[in-house]
Amino acid sequence: MHNRRLAAALAVVASAALAGSLALVRPAAADTSLKQLAEGKGKYFGTALVQSNLSNSTLVGVATSQFDMMTPGNEMKWDTTEPSNGSFNFGPGDALVAFAQAHSMRVRGHNLVWHSQLPGWVSSLPSNQVQAAMETHITTEATHYKGEVYSWDVVNEPFNDDGTLRQDAFYNAMGSGYIADAIRTAHAADPNAKLYLNDYNIEGENAKSNAMYSLVQSLLAQGVPISGIGLESHFILGQVPSTMLANMQRFAALGLDVAVTELDDRIQLPASSANLQQQASDYSTVVSNCLAVTRCVGVSQWGVGDADSWIPGTFSGYGAATMYDQNYQPKPAYTASVNALGGSSGGSSSSSPSTPTSSSSSSGGGGGACKVSDTVDAWNTGLTENITIDNTGSAAVSGWSLVFTLASGQTITNGWNASYSPSSGQVTATNASYDGAIAPGGSVSIGFQATHTGNAAAPASFSLNGQACSS
Ligand code: G3I
Repeated sequence: MHNRRLAAALAVVASAALAGSLALVRPAAADTSLKQLAEGKGKYFGTALVQSNLSNSTLVGVATSQFDMMTPGNEMKWDTTEPSNGSFNFGPGDALVAFAQAHSMRVRGHNLVWHSQLPGWVSSLPSNQVQAAMETHITTEATHYKGEVYSWDVVNEPFNDDGTLRQDAFYNAMGSGYIADAIRTAHAADPNAKLYLNDYNIEGENAKSNAMYSLVQSLLAQGVPISGIGLESHFILGQVPSTMLANMQRFAALGLDVAVTELDDRIQLPASSANLQQQASDYSTVVSNCLAVTRCVGVSQWGVGDADSWIPGTFSGYGAATMYDQNYQPKPAYTASVNALGGSSGGSSSSSPSTPTSSSSSSGGGGGACKVSDTVDAWNTGLTENITIDNTGSAAVSGWSLVFTLASGQTITNGWNASYSPSSGQVTATNASYDGAIAPGGSVSIGFQATHTGNAAAPASFSLNGQACSS
């Protein structure tokens, strides 16, 4: 698994170097994948997934095309990984890690120690046995995933909102020192993982974030190997704190990474278009804040779309909290995030509620020095199309235009790794700044989302720089 990841990383570096050496002069790229844009800024854009999400092809299509970091929503938590004392179950977490690796996503490990989703046996232990149980749990889980996770939320949500530490099983048995002990234990098991404290309502400057700041100062003074602070960022519409940027900067100034770990922005339902515009503004603020702080490593949303968000199940009457709607169509918050990252997007489409269905097809045609593989995942009002262009000739391609004709009624709403114009009829996809060079035997993957009015068929033929491609 590590070798596969390394090979993928080297391929990206090699292709970037090749593109640079050819000094292509191209119009500004209109690529709209969150991950590509974030990577261009030295950051990641992540999402949370639970195992059941993996069987939803529409969700998976968005997750794999847009996000390059994955946080398991539940599968690495103590109630799943050690449901009874000394009995470990890493199957669900392993499935998500394998999925992430297969799609070049890194993994935020979430989490090792938390008062919630904690099996009853831990809370029932005599207090003089809690430390050993905690250390065994951390050591076993962090060792199992050694080298597989980018980071661990070692202790999750340690504070009450007033800045006091939660009186949970760990605090009650060990006092505040459990936090340093947990981080040191995780570091011993996986010295290369970034080790985080993660909490909510610490995004702005307030009693809780002040307490986190003091704790971190004290941990650093003790030489505890903490790497970063996770700001969960479960916001209410219009309430991104004005002090968020300054707050991120003060943690970064301590020499720590910061990350937005669980972003969503809940709206009282039904959401109006004004609400969605406000949400776009909120997302833009959060993404911009991360971009403004060098030590902010990335932004992760909690879930992929409104259909898989935890919000409606927890906050009655609220929802619509993510960048994608119930049908995984991008919302204004998606466009705003793309724009904040310096990209441009064809905009968002809102579609009426519909029941997703799925179909796929492939096409191509003609002969030549290119081969195009094309898959379409469609539901009743939209589709996601992924296209791979192979250079089957012996000459390097230096800048390309791929021409194809969309079926009647199809309109591209956003795309990635190329700019698409116009959005319907005969479309020309022009390379992005970073993928114009295709070596002989090399390939480039691009894609887009489109709305349709009943005909979700793939284009019948493709031509690259005027030459027909085989399928
Ligand atoms: O697995 C049981 C299932 O057997 C049972 O039938 C069902 C009935 O309710 O519950 C299932 O467990 C649920 C679990 O998710 C797995 O789906 C719990 O009820 C449910 O409470 C739990 O919710 C999770 C929540 O953490 C728990 O606090 C959410 O999915 C998860 O998204 C959420 O994630 C947290 C982060 O870890 C930390 N920050 C806040 C964030 C949102 O609450």
